[in-house]
Amino acid sequence: MKKKVSYDAFWMPFTANRDFKANPRIINRAEGMYCYSDNGTQLLDATAGLWCVNAGHARQEIGEAMARQVAELDYSSPFNFGHDIGFEFAERLVEFTPTGLNKVFFTNSGSEAVESALKIALAYQRAKGNTTKFKLIGRELAYHGVNFGGLSVGGLTPNRTGFGPLLPADHLSHTLDVERNAFSKGLPEHGVEKAEQLEQLIQFHGAESVAAVIVEPISGAGGVILPPKGYLKRLREICDRHDVVLIFDEVITGWGRLGSPFAAQEFEVTPDLITSAKGITSGVVPLGAVFAKDEIYETVVNSAAEGSVEFYHGYTYSGHPVACAAGLATMDIYQREGLLERGRGEIGQYFADGLHSLKGIQSIVDIRNYGLIGAVQFAAPADGKPIGFDILKRCYDKGLLVRSMGNTIALSPPLIIEKSHVDQIIDTLAAVAKDIPAK
Ligand SMILES: Cc1ncc(COP(=O)(O)O)c(C=O)c1O
Repeated sequence: MKKKVSYDAFWMPFTANRDFKANPRIINRAEGMYCYSDNGTQLLDATAGLWCVNAGHARQEIGEAMARQVAELDYSSPFNFGHDIGFEFAERLVEFTPTGLNKVFFTNSGSEAVESALKIALAYQRAKGNTTKFKLIGRELAYHGVNFGGLSVGGLTPNRTGFGPLLPADHLSHTLDVERNAFSKGLPEHGVEKAEQLEQLIQFHGAESVAAVIVEPISGAGGVILPPKGYLKRLREICDRHDVVLIFDEVITGWGRLGSPFAAQEFEVTPDLITSAKGITSGVVPLGAVFAKDEIYETVVNSAAEGSVEFYHGYTYSGHPVACAAGLATMDIYQREGLLERGRGEIGQYFADGLHSLKGIQSIVDIRNYGLIGAVQFAAPADGKPIGFDILKRCYDKGLLVRSMGNTIALSPPLIIEKSHVDQIIDTLAAVAKDIPAK
């Protein structure tokens, strides 16, 4: 007989605990494009878990690689000792990163990758002699994880309030402009001028005080907000002019989500640092990383006395051997199956066409897409209570897993998605959307 599980002890993250525990949605099994609820209902995973299971669920070879690694070397300290698989994985990763970003600092999560990137940027400025550059700039509606650095540069108000003073950081405006850009296919036409705010903020604070700017090339958790055409290039130019480190948080956009390994390549803008996590192991085991330009690594490392630790930062599990084994097996799958390019191929186009076919349903006010990421925004209800979570529950009842934020539903399916899955996503969303009042 199945053991009865109590839902009492687990304090669930980013979840309405009381609501959930009164009516739990339990997923105990997953395979390929599907998850299965505890009563056996098949659920199409249109979110790749939490934007991470890019190779699809239950890839046996990843598990087998991890099991072999546990038998060989389960763990050893990454401080002052190394293991081949950590170095091998780092070398493999930089085959995918933009030209010049050839150094890898391992973390356990996206949040830690963000903290590490911010600290690397600060350490770099200091090592260069820019000792007064310590301010950070983020963006409204940005999500950079939940640690204090990420919260400080992040721009989601509910995440920021209630935790006291944060780090000295300022924020660019977000680039969501439904009035001018609704139903854009791919990158929106309007809004490049918003990049000029970076120039203004740097002038306002004084270039001598600004260390780094961090943006998600496409904001995920803020509602799938795309950069207007030319916007990211302009940020790059302004950072160059003022000796400001440009960080792309690619925790979501990395590993093929947009049809290239990274958004940096897709949008042809090379940042100085890239944060990564999630798809780096296809979500099978926690692992994050910062990819750094060689010049950043060399400046920091060479500024310290010979024989001394150059960067006082790291984690017990930085480059955990079992996570590295999972990551290597993940890269094998990505390459063998051509998954990182699928977003810009036929299936990406089919996904885009499917999403935009929903235009015209009265309750939908915007549809956004790029590669294999998409969003459907619904009209704000008259009572002001966001509708997204209600839509998530309705989709769940119809066998579809989506993510909700405010009045928006986000989609980021595993990169193994086929046309029949796209059809199921679109048919389900259409059925749900037609039941939602326009206002
Ligand atoms: C852009 C971005 N940065 C950072 C994070 C934090 O990653 P983690 O939840 O692994 O700490 C996320 C998570 O969704 C993210 O989307």
